[in-house]
Amino acid sequence: TYPRKARIFEVGARDGLQNEKQIVPADIKVELIERLVDAGVSAIETGSYVSPKWVPQMADTADVMSKLTRRDGVTYAVLTPNMKGYEGALASNADEIEIFSAASEIFNQKNINCSIAESLERFAPVTEAATSQNIPYRASVSCALGSPFGEEITPQAVADVSKKLYDMGAYEISIADTIGVGTPIKTKKVLEAVAEVIPLDVIGVHFHDTYGQALANYHAALEMGISRLDSSVAGLGGCPYAPGATGNVATEDVVYMLDGMGIESGIDLPSLVKTAWFISDYLGRPPVSSVARAMKGK
Ligand code: HMG
Ligand code: MG
Repeated sequence: TYPRKARIFEVGARDGLQNEKQIVPADIKVELIERLVDAGVSAIETGSYVSPKWVPQMADTADVMSKLTRRDGVTYAVLTPNMKGYEGALASNADEIEIFSAASEIFNQKNINCSIAESLERFAPVTEAATSQNIPYRASVSCALGSPFGEEITPQAVADVSKKLYDMGAYEISIADTIGVGTPIKTKKVLEAVAEVIPLDVIGVHFHDTYGQALANYHAALEMGISRLDSSVAGLGGCPYAPGATGNVATEDVVYMLDGMGIESGIDLPSLVKTAWFISDYLGRPPVSSVARAMKGK
């Protein structure tokens, strides 16, 4: 059964912009985030506290966080790979943090320079500190539907990492199709394997649209009753450590589908579309979203 409401976690300012060749200045990021919040987005990833040598696009996250005018009822989240990242999150008063691992050993190695098991160990002090300081954290499992390096990813491997992250206290486990290769039946099998080991209502989905399957996969997740959806305005993004990965599904496309299905997201589609055009115009190319293009100027 479909959920009555869905919670969109907007990742464009982080997962999106981390993969743009040009470094977008902090003021533009701030305007993007504030416009998204004006459009009704209530959970938003504003950046990441990672090594600026690894991801230079996110080097100004502290600046972005300090320039934002915060709105009550909105969750401003940052991605943190280790204690140094956690300290950055605390210093900028982030509402919540995100930790991340993967179902692919090779990807994990390339993304954060350690094995899956080591990544969980590295996150233990972060989750302990966050728990003692009452900072909620969500966790993401990359490469859940396929790896850019050709290894087979089994539903069981995804379920195993998900369970470990859940046992570490994450309030949400976001199952990520980093390279956008999933199709609906496979997606369901993976989500069902995960739902056997953790509660359905903590499962989130984060699908990239590389092969044009993301909306179909979101529909498969919604049909199972999953209501935590990650998406990226204008379909911005990719992942610097996943060769060939294109953007996340566009938030506009997801909201259009939810509106049509009578599932409440709290987001105003025309304002969202204007925001997609705002950032796309800045980047000098049209949004990849069909909805944003169809609704231009409406
Ligand atoms: P390392 O080189 O193994 O770590 O990198 P290290 O501890 O040896 O540190 C190396 C240098 O980085 C040192 O500086 C540290 O101070 C600095 P140096 O002495 O060389 O000048 N450093 C930091 N600087 C700022 N903030 C920090 C930090 N930590 C260390 N937090 C590390 C390990 C984890 C740092 C590195 O691999 C890294 O930053 N990786 C992040 C990669 C990343 O952001 N990837 C994208 C996010 S994940 C994603 O997109 C997937 C997701 O969207 C879901 C999906 O779609 O799949 C979530
Ligand atoms: Mg992603």
